[in-house]
Amino acid sequence: MIKDKIQSLLAEADTLQATNLDEVEALRIKYLSRKGIMNALMEEFRQVPPESKREIGQAINQLKETLQRRLTDLRESLECQADSSSDFDLTRTPYPIHLGSRHPLTIVRQQITDIFSRLGFILADGPEIEDDWHVFTSMNFPADHPARDMQDTFFIQRHPDIVLRTHTSSVQSRVMETTQPPIRVICPGRVYRNEAISARAHCFFHQVEGLYIDRHVTFADLKQVLLTFAREMFGPDTKIRLRPSYFPFTEPSAEMDISCHLCGGEGCAFCKHTGWVEILGCGMVDPAVLDANGIDSKEYTGYAFGMGVERIANLKYRVSDLRLFSENDVRFLTQFTSAQ
Ligand code: PHE
Repeated sequence: MIKDKIQSLLAEADTLQATNLDEVEALRIKYLSRKGIMNALMEEFRQVPPESKREIGQAINQLKETLQRRLTDLRESLECQADSSSDFDLTRTPYPIHLGSRHPLTIVRQQITDIFSRLGFILADGPEIEDDWHVFTSMNFPADHPARDMQDTFFIQRHPDIVLRTHTSSVQSRVMETTQPPIRVICPGRVYRNEAISARAHCFFHQVEGLYIDRHVTFADLKQVLLTFAREMFGPDTKIRLRPSYFPFTEPSAEMDISCHLCGGEGCAFCKHTGWVEILGCGMVDPAVLDANGIDSKEYTGYAFGMGVERIANLKYRVSDLRLFSENDVRFLTQFTSAQ
């Protein structure tokens, strides 16, 4: 009887075994190929009287599915064994686990902003694609200032009013136009200059700008804040010196040097035997800048300073080639660690 045959084949299907893939294939041929048992069964099925066709047909389908499933299971478990015996375990934890490291510029920027945060400065941000007003005009740059030249600044084609900001001082302007004093902000960010890329110059780099405006703010306040910063950043014995300088947006302006922390001020190749290295520009905010940005210069005074993050990172880590900071070579990046 065909019914009994199907029943015993069903029981048999569950017990099929194979020790390698060839044996699985042999089973497939035995049961499921053109000359196999299933096809023979289909031949027999033709003789089944019409009233039983439905019942027997379903049983045959069930048998076929059971056989297919059993053979697939056997094949997959054999393939899986083959993989693990060849040392290839996709579920294994990939030791040693390689942790990423922070970028040196991120570490240094964080250290700088941490120091100023402790002194009461809050973070401010602004766009890298800026308009002429915030980068130059509101910062007191005369119309014929060389920074406005295409040689120095990236302009957006067909929009001569739009530039890639050349300094983070544009954020000063954005803060002043929306906030009344007291203002005490620190503005980290990327800036762009039209320079040929070399070991010592790049077309983009990073700055941190500081701005403090209130009643009775003096140059002495600026000097003390910068001294505190230098000592926190480079160690308690660090000395500073301020040299007169010029920026359109500050008056008076100065450049700050720190005692070379590599030679302790004795003089070495790094500080070109002067004992000092320059780290930032600063000054008292020019009253014209306060007025242009909606702050009454008769009532308020302020100071500003700006430093290059790459420069500070170079001093800390002696990176000889600026390009290393943007090439993302892991052999360079993994040398820097930070608890932060
Ligand atoms: N913006 C100046 C620069 O890019 C730095 C600076 C900021 C100087 C604030 C004085 C005050 O070089």
